[in-house]
Amino acid sequence: MRGSNRAPFDPSAPTEGRNQLRTLRTLLPYLWPDGHPGLKARVVVAMLALVGAKALTLTAPLFYGRIVDSLSGPAQIVAVPLVMVAAYSLARALSSVLNEVRDGLFSRVAQHAIRQVALQTFQHLHGLSMRFHLDRRMGGLSRVIERGTKGIQFLLNFTLFNILPTIIEVVGAAIILHVIFGIAFSSITLLSVLGYIVFTVWVTEWRTKFRREMNTADAEANTKAVDSLLNYETVKYFGNDGHEAKRFDVSLARYQHFAVRSQVTLSMLNVGQQITVNLAAFVLLLLAARGVIAGTMTIGELVMINTYLIQLYIPLNFLGFVYREIKQGLVDMEVMFDLLVVSKEVADKPDAKPLVINRGTIEFDHVTFGYNDDRIILRDVSFTVPAGKTVAIVGASGAGKSTISRILFRFYDVNSGAVLIDGQDIRDVTQESVRAAIGVVPQDTVLFDDSIGYNIRYGKPTATQQEIEAVAKLASIHDFVASLADGYATRVGERGLKLSGGEKQRVAIARTMLKNPPILLFDEATSALDSHTEKDIQASLRKVSANRTTLVIAHRLSTVVDADEIIALDKGQIVERGTHRDLLARQGRYAAMWNKQQEAALYQARLAEAGADAAE
Ligand SMILES: Nc1ncnc2c1ncn2[C@@H]1O[C@H](COP(=O)(O)OP(=O)(O)OP(=O)(O)O)[C@@H](O)[C@H]1O
Ligand SMILES: [Mg+2]
Repeated sequence: MRGSNRAPFDPSAPTEGRNQLRTLRTLLPYLWPDGHPGLKARVVVAMLALVGAKALTLTAPLFYGRIVDSLSGPAQIVAVPLVMVAAYSLARALSSVLNEVRDGLFSRVAQHAIRQVALQTFQHLHGLSMRFHLDRRMGGLSRVIERGTKGIQFLLNFTLFNILPTIIEVVGAAIILHVIFGIAFSSITLLSVLGYIVFTVWVTEWRTKFRREMNTADAEANTKAVDSLLNYETVKYFGNDGHEAKRFDVSLARYQHFAVRSQVTLSMLNVGQQITVNLAAFVLLLLAARGVIAGTMTIGELVMINTYLIQLYIPLNFLGFVYREIKQGLVDMEVMFDLLVVSKEVADKPDAKPLVINRGTIEFDHVTFGYNDDRIILRDVSFTVPAGKTVAIVGASGAGKSTISRILFRFYDVNSGAVLIDGQDIRDVTQESVRAAIGVVPQDTVLFDDSIGYNIRYGKPTATQQEIEAVAKLASIHDFVASLADGYATRVGERGLKLSGGEKQRVAIARTMLKNPPILLFDEATSALDSHTEKDIQASLRKVSANRTTLVIAHRLSTVVDADEIIALDKGQIVERGTHRDLLARQGRYAAMWNKQQEAALYQARLAEAGADAAE
């Protein structure tokens, strides 16, 4: 069944029930990277620094209590408080230094992990099929990576620098309180912390859906804004500014709604947390005060307990925020890691070898194909482009011509039948080798937002300036480029929008010539050119495609009269085939199309003539 091997991907899908441990497990190897002993050493030392820092923090209140006692006691010996003050300050200072050491050491590990994950995701996305990308919104995908990597950062920072130290601190403080003051103090401390955590987790779980809705609305608003601004020209053509604003505002309103709910529930959480904290502090200090009055505890000890409480609840106060961020980070990471497991619809077989190209015979053998199960686009299409020959495909718009080129390039696999290059099924060889063998000038050229030179060089990154100019001349674009103030360094704007359609096509032709592949595929490569420029380029194309296997898709029949074979496609089926002469003689569909186009051309010519007359 076609399409059934696609793993579903939806960034807004609820992640409830998914195993978050699995997400963490996915991350772990990146933090303990094989082949990087230096990074592993950093992890170990950072951990030691973390434990050391906490141990020092835990001893500080002990010294503090002794300071108070030695100052408030009857016999005041100056040396004791002085030593204690020094010890207290040193412990705190050293603890801070160790924390910085930890941060510094670990940051390289974390950044390395983030870079690896982002790179892998990016590479994986490029490995996914055309269908996946056509179904997705670009802005959405790049934000998934952006948020996913941020999620990793949050998670690492907060787990290592907050959660773990806090756990050590809570346990350590409980043990110390237990040893010095007994079970009442330690159990109240532990219980309050536990209650605090349970309450925080519970409320945060409930709140997460608002955060998620907020994120979805945010992504939606962003996608709409990007799409709308990219279509600036179209929006103006139809005067739809108001419509676009309304569409955008719908998403904004949704975001607003959930952002408010998110804030209100956050406040509720904070109130609950404060009640827990202060209740525990109240009870503990009450107990301590009673101890002091009864003479079983010193004032220094009361101060010590208070210091522990304050020290403990500072990071715990953070816990609410940290838990929320980690939770969010996990959600974002899951979405990104889910991208990594989207299976490749068009994938190399495990034993796929590179295509061995001899002279580049292309064979379509009873190919049937549909983008979706419910609609067949190509029906039992068979044809051969013999090595070094040129075959043209003509036919009405929507007949399936570009689809043939996408199948040859293996953007999609066929439903039945096979496509062979030099006798090898393209499904049995590596995609990379197939794509390296074919040069495509697509119907719609999109350029990178860089210079004209960069876009031409894209066909062969190692090309010299001379090579670039040579192909530019062949594609009749050199003179145009030379006339620009910045020459080849002229920037083309996003998607190449600052060039005319014909200029873009010529850049596309030039870069394909630079690639210099054994097989050429021209999909309406000159459709946007005036007939004069087209004639120039046709001559170049003929030169380039001589002795090269070439598939030409054309609407203007005058450009394919020289083809070795012309195939007329209609609704995905081959209805006629032969040379231009054969087909004209047959007086069929092709002949009818030809006559119509000739008439139109004649009419155009007369119009031009009349225009010239009138101008005289
Ligand atoms: N990604 C896609 N998903 C679903 N249907 C598609 C997809 N791409 C194209 N089609 C459909 O397949 C049919 C053939 O499209 P194709 O692009 O091959 O036409 P064409 O012959 O190149 O037309 P034109 O001369 O206008 O370029 C069209 O009806 C089109 O709507
Ligand atoms: Mg097309």
